[in-house]
Amino acid sequence: MKVCVIGTGYVGLVTGACLAHIGHDVVCVDNNAEKVKLLKTGQSPIYEPGLPEILQQAIAAQRIHFTDDIDAGVHHGEILFIAVGTPSLADGRSDMRYVEAVARSIGEHLREGYRVIVNKSTVPIGSGDWVRMLVLDGLGSQTERPQVEFDVVSNPEFLREGVAVYDTFNPDRIVLGSSSSRAIALMQDLYTPIITRQFSTPPAALPPVPVVVTDLSSAEMIKYAANAFLAVKISYINEIANVCDRVGADIREVALGIGLDSRIGSKFLQAGIGWGGSCFGKDVSALIHTAEDYGYSTEILKACVQVNQTQRLVVVEKLQQILKVLKGKTIGLLGLTFKPDTDDMRDAPALTVIDQLSRLGARVKAFDPIVSQSGMRDGFSNVLVETDPKRLADGCDALVLVTDWKQFLTLDYGEMARLMNHPILIDARNFLDRPTLEAVGFKYVGIGR
Ligand SMILES: NC(=O)c1ccc[n+]([C@@H]2O[C@H](COP(=O)([O-])OP(=O)(O)OC[C@H]3O[C@@H](n4cnc5c(N)ncnc54)[C@H](O)[C@@H]3O)[C@@H](O)[C@H]2O)c1
Repeated sequence: MKVCVIGTGYVGLVTGACLAHIGHDVVCVDNNAEKVKLLKTGQSPIYEPGLPEILQQAIAAQRIHFTDDIDAGVHHGEILFIAVGTPSLADGRSDMRYVEAVARSIGEHLREGYRVIVNKSTVPIGSGDWVRMLVLDGLGSQTERPQVEFDVVSNPEFLREGVAVYDTFNPDRIVLGSSSSRAIALMQDLYTPIITRQFSTPPAALPPVPVVVTDLSSAEMIKYAANAFLAVKISYINEIANVCDRVGADIREVALGIGLDSRIGSKFLQAGIGWGGSCFGKDVSALIHTAEDYGYSTEILKACVQVNQTQRLVVVEKLQQILKVLKGKTIGLLGLTFKPDTDDMRDAPALTVIDQLSRLGARVKAFDPIVSQSGMRDGFSNVLVETDPKRLADGCDALVLVTDWKQFLTLDYGEMARLMNHPILIDARNFLDRPTLEAVGFKYVGIGR
């Protein structure tokens, strides 16, 4: 099928590459000309395991093309995905200007036939009808109104950065929201190879991927409700971890004990430094605001955000308990990204920690397998990003493991301890083995244990 994906970020690029991989004819549009130029050479502007391989295969098979010309994309695609960013505004609502520009532009460039316009971006409830209105506005601005028909579908994305390609081929479910059976049928055709698990790993004889066909608003709500639930689950276990810290219980034992209850499940029960990334914060905040627009105050969600903000600073409290005054001390952060296997720094807990440590007068150094000094965005130029873990440890008064990159399991901690002023390690992910660290001279402090 002919597909156009507008926006080649973490979601759009993975979606476009995966749809091309399963046999569709994809044109990806981005208004960032530099990005398009890079993509045309087969290079991925983002770090996402497995993506370069399928991207290069799709380019070689001529099943994917990149352009900054939206007219070419809209003309090509019978299915048009909107996959642009919907970041938070200062007041916590979603910034819909990119979706707005794209929807209007689609209307301005539609020429003939039937099109399905898909909201893949995470958008506030009601955006499906709003996108329809904007496309009609765009159509209305054409000098001669073309003979076009279109439907809007909400098809929220649930991929996790770091395993985005795997998730696209092995989704837990596909959600399709629309009142048009014609549009839903086309979307089902599009996803058939994935639904029937032709690209699953391992290619097990699993039942087909469940497809939830629903109305637009419910599909939009499913995305927000899912992310909010996961954020609440993490905040909950972090809150319990803080109580464990005080009463002498071990959160890992507690999480094991409650996670074995099938009603609860063991996932998202790892206590640590709190959630981050481009989605949880903005989506929880957008849901809080949507509810407020309709006269309802979401108390659990507000508490979840508050607990998370506090949780990010638990490591600073622990440093203060051990080192007392942080002014003039050097703290090294192991990991900067909000989770391993991504280069995404959006709303990363490390940024909150850096901010607070700098405020308290500490000098902050960091090492991350993927983020270099140039990767630190404005305002964080006060962090010295080292090129290897030993240089990070050299002269530090304490280390904080912020991101659970697999590489951090096997560092030469003995040598690192020798290079430090005080061999202290705060493991903000409960990731490392305490006896191993203690055996090489570290004072090891975890979260809730
Ligand atoms: N990143 C995730 O893990 C994830 C997961 C699920 C859902 N989502 C949602 O998917 C959406 C996209 O997220 P992302 O992380 O991929 O964003 P992103 O910021 O990485 O990418 C957005 C892309 O859209 C492009 N763009 C902006 N305006 C454009 C325009 N007018 N025309 C063409 N291209 C334009 C940008 O240049 C950029 O390349 C968001 O709504 C997000 O909430 C993200």
